[in-house]
Amino acid sequence: MKRVETIYENGDHRWAVVARDPNKPGHLIDTNEYLVSKGDHALLTDPGGTEIFPAVFAAVSEAYDPRNIRAIFASHQDPDVISSLGLWLEFNPDLRCHLSWLWDSFVPHFGGREETFVSLPDEGGPITLNGLGLQAIPAHYLHSSGNFHLYDPKAKILFSGDVGAALLPEGENGLYVENFERHIKHAEGFHRRWMGSNYAKEKWCARVAELEIEMLCPQHGAIYRGADVHRFIDWFRRLDVGLK
Ligand SMILES: [Fe+2]
Ligand SMILES: [Fe+2]
Repeated sequence: MKRVETIYENGDHRWAVVARDPNKPGHLIDTNEYLVSKGDHALLTDPGGTEIFPAVFAAVSEAYDPRNIRAIFASHQDPDVISSLGLWLEFNPDLRCHLSWLWDSFVPHFGGREETFVSLPDEGGPITLNGLGLQAIPAHYLHSSGNFHLYDPKAKILFSGDVGAALLPEGENGLYVENFERHIKHAEGFHRRWMGSNYAKEKWCARVAELEIEMLCPQHGAIYRGADVHRFIDWFRRLDVGLK
């Protein structure tokens, strides 16, 4: 079973993670979905694949009224990110899906009407959730050619999609990174192969190094907190990725 854990709470402003599922079949990559809520409005990041929709929906519904989910943020077009879109739209046809303009005619193959999609320009920009100002941060070619992360300046949380992802061995189900040096070994191969460009990586590192981030929340693996956030950014900056 997936479970929902609150990772930030301040009044009616909350971040919760639909955390990893130890019982999930091994042939599916495990994912984290994040529910950002402000009062009775919520946004779900990278809601996941069709295959895990029942597990995500059940876990979310135990902790929160899913009718309050008004929007989805899709960091990019991958099946583990957004292939459940059609099922979410069956539940709520008025959902809005924020994603890169590059994918706004491809992702509709997973479902949705024209008005479902809110296209983000390459430079990103604001996404407002019930008065809460979130920001789409460009992360193109990390790994997708049209790729965004989601920053909450109030909570100081960055949802970083596949950046920061780690493929953890069975049994390592902790929510947070506890030992950076040990953890990062499980992230290295993934970043070397999946991240397409050193140039894009350097631009991203410079951009996010200027943000105040207390938690860096990837779509796979554990969450980086406190000093581990900048430890990760420094590690990523030094890592050689993509085509040589
Ligand atoms: Fe991906
Ligand atoms: Fe992914």
